Amino acid sequence: KIIILDFGSQYTQLIARRVRELNVYCEIHPYNKKGVIDDSVVGVILSGSPSSVRDENAPQVDLSNIKGKLPLLGVCYGAQYLAHNFGGEVGRSDAREYGRAMLTKVRGENSLIKDVSECSQVWMSHGDTIVKLPDNYVIIASTEDVPVAAYHIEGEQTWGIQFHPEVYHSTEGTLILKHFLVDICGCRQDWTAASYVETSVRELKEKLGDDKVLLGLSGGVDSSVAAMLLHRAIGGNLVCIFVDMGLLRKDEFESVMESYQGMGLNVIGVRAGDKFLADLRGVTDPERKRKIIGRDFIEVFDAEAIKLKDIKWLAQGTIYPDVIESISSGGPSVTIKSHHNVGGLPEKMNLKIVEPLRLLFKDEVRRIGRELEVPEKILSRHPFPGPGLGIRILGEVTAERVRILQEADKIFIDGLREWDLYNKVWQAGVMLLPVQSVGVMGDERTYESCVALRAVASTDGMTADWVHLPYEFLAKVSNDIINKVRGINRVVYDISSKPPATIEWE
Ligand code: XMP
Repeated sequence: KIIILDFGSQYTQLIARRVRELNVYCEIHPYNKKGVIDDSVVGVILSGSPSSVRDENAPQVDLSNIKGKLPLLGVCYGAQYLAHNFGGEVGRSDAREYGRAMLTKVRGENSLIKDVSECSQVWMSHGDTIVKLPDNYVIIASTEDVPVAAYHIEGEQTWGIQFHPEVYHSTEGTLILKHFLVDICGCRQDWTAASYVETSVRELKEKLGDDKVLLGLSGGVDSSVAAMLLHRAIGGNLVCIFVDMGLLRKDEFESVMESYQGMGLNVIGVRAGDKFLADLRGVTDPERKRKIIGRDFIEVFDAEAIKLKDIKWLAQGTIYPDVIESISSGGPSVTIKSHHNVGGLPEKMNLKIVEPLRLLFKDEVRRIGRELEVPEKILSRHPFPGPGLGIRILGEVTAERVRILQEADKIFIDGLREWDLYNKVWQAGVMLLPVQSVGVMGDERTYESCVALRAVASTDGMTADWVHLPYEFLAKVSNDIINKVRGINRVVYDISSKPPATIEWE
C-alpha cells in the first residue's frame, strides 16, 4: 500500500482519491503518527500544507525510515520540506503562485515525468518557493515563474513537485502519479471493486464466523451497500432493521422494503410513524424537532434490537471521510452521523462494532454497490436527511402537513425523473412553509399553504449552488402541485447557495 502523510492541505483527500482511481490502495495518516510504515508500505507521499517550512512551528516529520529507503514523493509543502531540511533553501516567492502554469522539462526525460507533454498545464498553490536545492538534487522541470517545479534526488527514489498533480486542472497530473505508483513503487493497480469485495468478504467471514450481526438500514447508499457486503459474507446471520418514522417520502417505506427483500436481505420493517407524530405535536423549534426525532429513532431501534437473540455485533455504514485522522479536518469526527448512531445499544447489549465500509470514499461505495448488484435505484438516490421530512416541514409537524408535503415532493421528484433531470441534480426536495397566502381558484378565494422547491448541485453537501432548472419544467411542476395537492396554492423556487444558506431549511 501507499501511505500519504498529511500536513493539513485541503487537497490531501484528493491525492488519496486519485491514487485509488488508479486502482492502488492508499491510506492517509497525520504526518506525526507513529508506526504507520510497515512491511506492506511500498511508497510514501508527503502532502501540501497551509504552513510554511520557514515557520517556527512548521510540522516536522521523522523520515529516517522512509527517505532513501522507500520511494518518496513530496508535493508542494512536501517538496519544500525535503529541500529545506536537507541543505537547501526556501524563501517567500515574489509572485505568490496560484493557479495555472505551464511545465517544461529540464534535462530531458525522467521516470516521474516520462511521456508528459512539453508545456503541460499544472496547478500551483503556494506562497513559498524553493530558492536553492541541496547538491544531489536535480531539477527535472520548471515553469516560467518557478524554476524548481520538479526535482529528483540523485541516487534515491525521491522526488519533489511544487505543483498539485491531484487537482483536475493539472491535466497530466494523473499520468505523473501513475509513473510514481506503477513505475517507481511497483504497484500492480489491482485494487478494484471486485478485489475489494473479495478481500472484505474473506475478512468479514474470518472476523464474524457464525456470529449474528445487526444493522440499521436507512434506504440510503451506505447502509444498503454495507448490508449487501455483510450479506455476501455471512448470509442469514445478518439481521437488518428499517424504521419508518412516518417522515419518509411518499410510498418510500414499501418501495425500499421491496428492494431490500429483492436483494435477499433479512429485514425487519418497523412502522412507528404514530409515535413520532405524537412526540412532535406542538413542537416548532428546529433543533428540538431534530432531538426528538433522533431520540425516538434510537428508542424504536433499540426496542426492536433487544427482542433479537444472540446478536454479537452491530454493523455501521461509516465511510472513510468520517474516520480519516486528517489534520485539515481537525481529526476524526467524534460523533458518528446521527443516522448510524444507535444510542447506548452497544453497551446495553454488549455489542462489538463492525464497519465494513470504513476505508471507502462515497464514490467507491457506489462502485462496490454495483459490484454487489445493489439496485441502481438505491445507488443513484439523492441524499436524504436522517430526520426526514420532519426538517422540511417548517412549523408544526402534523399528519395532514406530512401528507401535503409527501404529495408535493412526489410530483417534484417524479418530474425530475421524467424530464431526465434527476441525475443532474445532487439533491432535491420540497419545503412546506409555515405561511398561508391568498389565492383564487375558480371563483373562490383560497387561503392555503406555500411550498418551496429546492434543487442543488454539490459534490459533498459542504457547499452547494441552486440548479438552473428549465422554466418549462418549473412551470409544469408548479401547475401540477397547485392543481393536484389539496392545501397548496403557491409554489416558489429557492435560489440560495450554500453558504450562506444551507441545503435544508431547518
Ligand atoms: P445542510 O442543510 O446542512 O445539509 O446544508 C447538508 C446535507 O446534510 C443533510 N442533512 C442531514 N443528514 N442527518 C443526516 O443524515 C441530519 O440531521 C441532516 N441534516 C441535514 C442534508 O440533506 C444535506 O444533504
